[in-house]
Amino acid sequence: MANAPSLTDIRFEHHPTGLGVNETRPRISWRYESKSASLVKNWLQTSYEVEVKRKNSSETKPFKSDSDSNILVPWPDSPLTSRDAASVRVRAFGVSSTEAASTEGQATPTEWSDWASVETGLLERKDWSAHFITSSKRTALPVGGKRVEYFRPIRLRKTFRLDSKPARSRLYITALGVYVVYINGTRIGEEHMAPGWTSYRHRLQYQVYDVGDLLQAGQDNTLAIEVGEGWYAGRIVWGEGVTCFYGEEIGALAQLEVGPEKGSGQILVQTDDKWEWKESPILSSGIYDGEEYDMRQDYQDWTKISSQEQKSSDWQAVKKLQFPETTLLASPCPPVKVNQLVKPVSISESPTGKILIDFGQNLVGKIRIHSLSRPSGHLLTIKHAEVLENGELGVRPLRCAKATDRITFSDNILKDYSPQFTFHGFRYVEMSGWSPSDATEPLTLESISAAVMHNSMLRTGHFECSSAPLNQLHSNVTWSLRSNFLSIPSDCPQRDERLGWTGDIQVFGPTASFLYDGAGFLGNWLRDLIADQKQAGGVVPFVIPDVMPNGPWPHESHAIWDDVVILLPWALYQWTGDDLPLRECYDGMLDHLKVLPRDHDGLWDTEVWKLGDWLDPSAPPDNPALATTDSTLVSDAYLVHITRTMARIADVLDNSKDKARFEAEAEKLAQAFRYKYIAGSGLVVGDTQTALALTLVFNLHEQGDQAGRALAAARLAKWVKAAQFKVSTGFAGTNAILPALSLDLPGGTKEESNLQYAYKMILTDECPSWLYPVKMGATTTWERWDSMLPSGEINPGEMTSFNHYALGSVAAWMHETIGGLALAEDQKGRVGWKSFRVQPRPGGDVTSAKTEYLSGYGWVRCEWQVVELGGTKGKKFVMDLTVPANSTAVVVLPDADKKGQHDGLTVGSGGHHFECRFEDPGEWPPKSNLPF
Ligand code: BGC
Repeated sequence: MANAPSLTDIRFEHHPTGLGVNETRPRISWRYESKSASLVKNWLQTSYEVEVKRKNSSETKPFKSDSDSNILVPWPDSPLTSRDAASVRVRAFGVSSTEAASTEGQATPTEWSDWASVETGLLERKDWSAHFITSSKRTALPVGGKRVEYFRPIRLRKTFRLDSKPARSRLYITALGVYVVYINGTRIGEEHMAPGWTSYRHRLQYQVYDVGDLLQAGQDNTLAIEVGEGWYAGRIVWGEGVTCFYGEEIGALAQLEVGPEKGSGQILVQTDDKWEWKESPILSSGIYDGEEYDMRQDYQDWTKISSQEQKSSDWQAVKKLQFPETTLLASPCPPVKVNQLVKPVSISESPTGKILIDFGQNLVGKIRIHSLSRPSGHLLTIKHAEVLENGELGVRPLRCAKATDRITFSDNILKDYSPQFTFHGFRYVEMSGWSPSDATEPLTLESISAAVMHNSMLRTGHFECSSAPLNQLHSNVTWSLRSNFLSIPSDCPQRDERLGWTGDIQVFGPTASFLYDGAGFLGNWLRDLIADQKQAGGVVPFVIPDVMPNGPWPHESHAIWDDVVILLPWALYQWTGDDLPLRECYDGMLDHLKVLPRDHDGLWDTEVWKLGDWLDPSAPPDNPALATTDSTLVSDAYLVHITRTMARIADVLDNSKDKARFEAEAEKLAQAFRYKYIAGSGLVVGDTQTALALTLVFNLHEQGDQAGRALAAARLAKWVKAAQFKVSTGFAGTNAILPALSLDLPGGTKEESNLQYAYKMILTDECPSWLYPVKMGATTTWERWDSMLPSGEINPGEMTSFNHYALGSVAAWMHETIGGLALAEDQKGRVGWKSFRVQPRPGGDVTSAKTEYLSGYGWVRCEWQVVELGGTKGKKFVMDLTVPANSTAVVVLPDADKKGQHDGLTVGSGGHHFECRFEDPGEWPPKSNLPF
């Protein structure tokens, strides 16, 4: 339609494809195209129409709604049942404001969207008639006769006959362990480490595949599954760790169903005791230690063997396992895939003569060897590490993870090889048994790649600016997200840890929400959190899935970490407008507030151990919790903040009683905080970057005490200058320090503004700072400010990862303050980018930025630059903005104060161009207050 935008991207819940949803009433969303050709000015949706075609009917049912929402609108038809399917298309009606004025709101329709399909998985336990199966003897390798060290992967298969090609076929499959599956020799799907890691005792995911193209009518077909130990039975947690945490038998469950396009189908084949099994030629496959593959023990074509050959004697009958007490659910997350292949940038020899391959990028995944033949018995050993030390592979930070893959050759060619059931965090590889000087097939830059693995979420956020080091910092943050969103949001991806530490994602959630559409992935993880928290009696476990209920750390509450149960659902709600995570986590939120140990004033018990401002730069290598800022103060500041957030959450959930209760409680706690920590003048007894920043950002001064706030802000500026603009915050203070320096303090003049200090801090590259790792050549975010010491030596501490996203939480400030895109509520209090704030605040020597975000409405784009006008004319600020249909932006330009437009101008959809005069927000570069 001429004056209406195009509808695109129909989605169901937060599901990546719509195939295999768990909801009987999947909510529907769509976006609007924001290509400049299709941008319609000031367009707001006034109603929509959905058409639904059900699986067993030729009828198309129309549904109309007067709603102006295009995000997660209710399922309009009767509920779906198990294995049910429907096609849906949408068109919307809307007005542009000029049109509304002239035609009294005569809404024009968009074109119909394309049809999108949705299909449920197996929704109930009774839908599964398959059995979990395993090998009939244990395939674990006992080490030292003491405990199970590794499970050797197993292969399972079944040959079956198919008379005619079905119109519709679905494979439902999962494993106790991790699996790959084949039909007639072809690997199904592109997922790695399936079914993914969840809190298996509560929730086990299965995958749904359409396998129609692979089935062959009129002949035998083979379904073949290989299963490795994965997180289910492999070694997890650090040091000697825990093995068999979830169970002592690895196995698989699969059900292949076929049928006509419409009507009910039949189960063609399912895992049961008629299957057979054999040991895999993969001798061991550990997540921490890597994989060992013996080509001599491999047997070709096992995935497509015919029924006669199938009777070969060394395949044995499988054993049925008891169906576990867990909820099976179709995975709502985008699968873990190989999303990129990275070629090496160099191959060199180390001082001790080792062959080192540098991929030029720290990443997570596994190597891929394109093709190689070597004599039978030849051993290739591939060790992985993130950094070099003294020119050699720096493996010490990996602690007890061997991160080594080994291949023993047969006479066959190794083709397109990657280890099957492991992943490593690495930039460098040490290769033994293959070198550039080999006479046949020498190792070259073309012989090997690094396959980058992570959940294949949709990339939604991009940022670049005129500062190359800041762009590298942003790239590092993005790579650390990609590296640590592999099945769960993990702390780090390389050492003997790789756990879902709650504090890390709590501080990084807002940054992550900009960069990728993580709603499905993080929402799924939160469901594990709720299940595990309940199991733990209301205390949020340190890591989710909780694999440390019995230590090594004491099971008790911690601020910042446990606060994830409140702050992450809140962040997801703010970014997507979906209140489901709030509803699902609400009881867990209440439990967290109930069980945390308090003093008589309601604040945290001062005596209990707290992680606090973990890993601030002054914390010694062997004691990451020994921060400069009192850990109780940090925990208390967060406690006031989360209690206030609870009042807002209760409000969203229409729970007025709880809203009032939490408002009162938050006020009481804020008063207790002031009594304990804030002097009458406004200064904060903590008197550190973290203490002052949290007090300012969480607004902990008495309401209206502007003088006190201003004094605290000045004090923060003083310490920042005294630190020569270097950072002294840890996990808790890092996402607050730059926002605190960027606050507009009432009564402050431009010259008194601290914004230039924020810019100076982010642009400083002296250790500790965000750009110090960039200066040292980092390509991911480090766990410590000085994971690599200025001397080039690796920090001697145990916690020295080079791929931790927590300190990358600063990127949220970059998107908001440099880029200019920030969350806001519309006039009706709606979130999720229905309305957003556009307020770039240029500073430092950053003269331009381009920021893009794919909101639930469509692409938001903001591109600005500061232009010198020449002579004494000063500078001008120029900005182009794209606002997607059905949303509005509140634009605050740099001269807004001067024009009395501090609240900004509201603009509707379309492309907008702005210009205004620009004055630097203060002296640049600002000077330290030290005399030397
Ligand atoms: C992890 C951190 C985590 C911390 C909690 C570490 O071992 O790597 O990122 O939050 O422990 O204390």
